[in-house]
Formats: sequence, C-alpha cells, structure tokens
Amino acid sequence: MGEQKEKTQGLNAAEQAKLEKDGLDVVQDIARFAEQGVTALTPGDIERLKWVGLYLQRPKEDGNFMLRIKLPGGLLTTAQARVIAGISRDYGKNGLDITTRHSLQFHWIRLEGLPDIFGRLTQAGLTTLQAAGDCPRGIVVNPLAGIDAEECLDAAPWGEALYQFFQNNRDFSNLPRKFKIAITGAPHNSIQAELNDISFVPAEKRESGKILYGFHVLVGGGLSSQPQLATELDLFVLPEQVVAVAAAVAAIFRDHGYREKRNHARLKFLLNDWGVEKFTQELLSRTGSLQPGGKRITGTWNGGKFFGIHPQKQAGFYYLGLAIPCGRLTADELQELAGLAERYGDGTLRTTNSQDILIPGIAETVLASLKQEPLVKSQHKLQGTMTAQAITCTGKEFCPFAIIETKAFAARLLAQLDEAFPEKLPLRIHVSGCVHACAQPQIADIGLQGTMVMSDGVAKEAAEVWLGGTLEQQGVLGRKIAGKVPVDQAAATLVRLLSLYRDERLPEEPFGEFVKRTGLLDKAVNEWSK
Ligand code: HEM
Ligand code: SF4
Repeated sequence: MGEQKEKTQGLNAAEQAKLEKDGLDVVQDIARFAEQGVTALTPGDIERLKWVGLYLQRPKEDGNFMLRIKLPGGLLTTAQARVIAGISRDYGKNGLDITTRHSLQFHWIRLEGLPDIFGRLTQAGLTTLQAAGDCPRGIVVNPLAGIDAEECLDAAPWGEALYQFFQNNRDFSNLPRKFKIAITGAPHNSIQAELNDISFVPAEKRESGKILYGFHVLVGGGLSSQPQLATELDLFVLPEQVVAVAAAVAAIFRDHGYREKRNHARLKFLLNDWGVEKFTQELLSRTGSLQPGGKRITGTWNGGKFFGIHPQKQAGFYYLGLAIPCGRLTADELQELAGLAERYGDGTLRTTNSQDILIPGIAETVLASLKQEPLVKSQHKLQGTMTAQAITCTGKEFCPFAIIETKAFAARLLAQLDEAFPEKLPLRIHVSGCVHACAQPQIADIGLQGTMVMSDGVAKEAAEVWLGGTLEQQGVLGRKIAGKVPVDQAAATLVRLLSLYRDERLPEEPFGEFVKRTGLLDKAVNEWSK
C-alpha cells in the first residue's frame, strides 16, 4: 500500500488510473458497464475506456460517447462498411466522422449498446482497441499503398506488421501519452510524416550499382500547444527492420518519457531534452547497429488529398478519390459508396487521413459508366474547391475540449469562400476547435483554431489564425497572426486576405510562398485592426 502510494506520488490522474489497472483490462469491464450504466463509472474507468476507443462526448453529464474504430491502413471491405453503417444507424444517429488518422468515429454511443456494437464489429473483423489511450494509436499508412503508381515500396505489409506487433501488446499498453506511428513508401508524404511520434519515409541507397530501397526514420513530431515537426535521424532502415525500430522507440518513450504533466509527456519533449545524438545512441543500443542514412525520396507533398480518377500502378486499373466535405458522412452515404465499390471496384474502400474516401481497383472497361453515376457526377462541383481541400476536427458539437463549433462553421465558411473565388484558389484551410490541434491547423495554408474574444462586453466564438504552414520539402509550421477573428467575421476577413493572394500571386505560386514573399503576415495584422 505504502509502496503503491509512493509510486503514484507526483503522477497525474491518468497515470494513476493506469496504475490501478492496465488500460487493456477495460475490455473485461464492458459487460458490467453496459449493465450498470454511466453513473457507476469511476474517473479511472472513464480514463481506461479510451483503450477501447471511447471518449465521453459533450455534455459529459448526458452519458453519450464517441467511439473510434481503428482501420489499419484505412482499409475496409464493403461488408465491413455495411456493418459500420448499420451500427451508425442503430446507435449513432446515422452519422460518421473520418479522422486525420483515417479512423472512423461514431457519436451518441451509450454504454448499454456496447455488447451488441462490439459483437458486430468483432464479427466483421473490426476493432476499436487502442484507437485512443496512452498507447500506439491507429497506424497511418499511405492510403494508396499497393496501388500507388509513384511508390518505391508498398508500405501496406509493413504497416500491417506494425499493427500486428503493437495491437493488444501489454509491453506498450501503458505509455506516458499517445504514440503515433506512420509509414509510406511513396514520395508524396501523404502520411504527414512530420506530425508523428515516429514515421518511416522512403529512402534509397546505391550499392555496387544497384538501388536498395528502405526507410528513413523521423521522430518526435506532434502539434497541440507546442507544435513541433519530427526530426529525421541519420538511419537507413530496411523494411524487415521497421517493427524492431518502432518497438525500440516506443520502449524508449515508455521507459524514459515524462509522466508528470499531460501536456509535457509526448515523445517530442524527451527528444528535445536528450538531443538527437543521445536519442539515436539509445535507439541503437536497443536495436543493434543500423545503417547510416541514405537519400530520402521526396516529391511534391499532396496534403494526403487524392481527388478524382487516377491510374493505379496495376495497368488497366484506376482508383476514384471522393471528397467528403469536413470528413463527415451519413451511414446511408457510406452504404452507397460500398455499393459503388462492389459494382465498379474490387470490393474495398479506403479512408484517408485527409478525411476522404477512395474506391480502388476500378477496371478501365467500367470507367465510362462509373462516371455517369449520380454520386460521382455530384463530385464535379467539388473539384478544386476549398471545401474539398479542408480539414476539420470534431469541435463543440461533441468534443468536451472544444471552445468553438467547427464542422458547421467550416462548411459555411468554405461555401462562402468558394463562392467568392469561382476561379478556384489552391488553398488548404484547417479548422480546429481548440489548442489540441486535431485538424492540424499549423500545417494548413490558413489554419483556424478556436478561442473566445470579448466584443462589446460579450464573449464571442473566435479563431486564432495560422498562415503559411506546409509539409512541402522538409515542412514549415504556419505562423500565428497576433489577434483573433470573431467567427461571424471570419468569411469577410478571409475574403479580403485571399483577394490579395488572387490578385498579387505569381503564376502557380503556392500560398505559403506568397505569404513569405509578400510579408502577408504583416498585411494580415493590419487587416485585423480594421
Ligand atoms: C471527442 C473527440 C476528440 C477528443 C476528445 C480528442 C482529444 C484530443 C486531445 C486531448 C488531443 C491533444 C493530444 C496531445 O496533446 O497529445 C488531440 C490531438 C489530436 N487529435 Fe483529437 N480528439 C478528438 C477528435 C479528433 C478527431 C475527430 C480527429 C481527426 C479529425 C483527431 C485527431 C487528432 C490529431 C491529429 C491530434 C494532433 C495531436 C498531435 O499530433 O500532437 N481528434 N485530440
Ligand atoms: S482540436 Fe480540440 S475541439 Fe477539436 S477535436 Fe481536438 S480536442 Fe476537440
């Protein structure tokens, strides 16, 4: 008892909940929770429910939950999509959100429904285990893995190996904080590698005239209140070494990461204190020797967006990238997409970490009739729009942390901007409801982050604004403009800013470059003061 007390001293409440009981043990409590209801839950139970993907949704007193399904590689069979649609209809008010780690979220879930929901998911080969909590989260894999005409390595088998290794693995079920892993074998960095705790990106080495493909390793990325892009280590990792390297980094995090303050616990804080050299040495002491870095294979960053019909690497086959505005769709829409995938594709769907959906495996012979489908035709109006490019988090509708509502606000704002700029500006707008940065505002051309502002003595919803973020080349975080824009003035303010971009940009000049060249940040500050 005394020893336990000593052990928990100085630890935050989440750490204490994990010491009471491993997060993975919550699986055994589900039947009891379903019987006893939400009022019987202890704070520790609520914390541990994250390990099966459950978060209390706002308002917490109502006892409704958000439930996140982990989709390894974003892969879904159409049969699985139908099961998800069915659960959404029966328990989730017909709604679904796609997340920035290509997971799917239900809302409105009650504890009483869990035995049936988990039963249906398990039978369909789906899981929510470790979709949240202080453990390895959903592993982001290039959404085109295996069909990507640009990839030098198919990341899918290695993403699957990582998933199999970490899933339900008690060596890594109590980390100091969430642990985000991503892997791609393609140059377009669709996985947003720099935002993860560890990511694997394609690299090459030339050995006696031959090209050897492997991965470079990035560590210590993360956003939230102290955003930081991951650092590339001087290592070249062969595909079959990926799991060992990820395991070693996770073990360093587990053994040396900080457990005192929740907002000072991610791997990035340890990396910053240790420095890259010490971190690499510790890693090598666990993995054994690894080769020094080769040449990273980079291309044009695509923001993870794959809109329209494109050829696959398999000759004669195509994939269709559908924009899902604000990452939100209904169960009926998912079911309709499953129908399309069955009729035209290979019977699978892929969710993307840019909150969209792909239908792969479409034979050239059926392309013409696919294009005549009403759902596909309805996508034409989204082509090149800001609506199709945007990313949004859950926001105040459901998220207890949120300061502002995001999905409806973003949809309105984007519609107004698309109308104001019919010539279509290549612009990525990300809207996050609070400082946690779930919509990754710091890598957006324009990132909005929820806050409040006093106006005539009344507190109003507002946004802080980040400009010029990108993961092009090695990436740069956007810079925050001083001041706040009330939500009801956001459209007018952004129309003024974007008019400058439309009128003064060089041909094909990306927004980030324009911001740098013209000092738009300072101009923007003047706009604010008007
Ligand atoms: C009820 C809903 C949600 C809750 C309670 C929640 C909670 C959080 C919290 C507490 C953080 C900060 C973590 C940290 O500092 O390390 C965070 C970060 C994040 N969340 Fe969420 N989240 C929710 C929904 C979402 C959704 C819908 C998405 C995707 C659209 C998402 C993706 C992310 C991402 C990408 C981060 C960035 C953190 C980083 O890499 O540093 N979350 N979330
Ligand atoms: S950014 Fe904030 S408001 Fe949005 S989902 Fe994340 S925690 Fe919630």
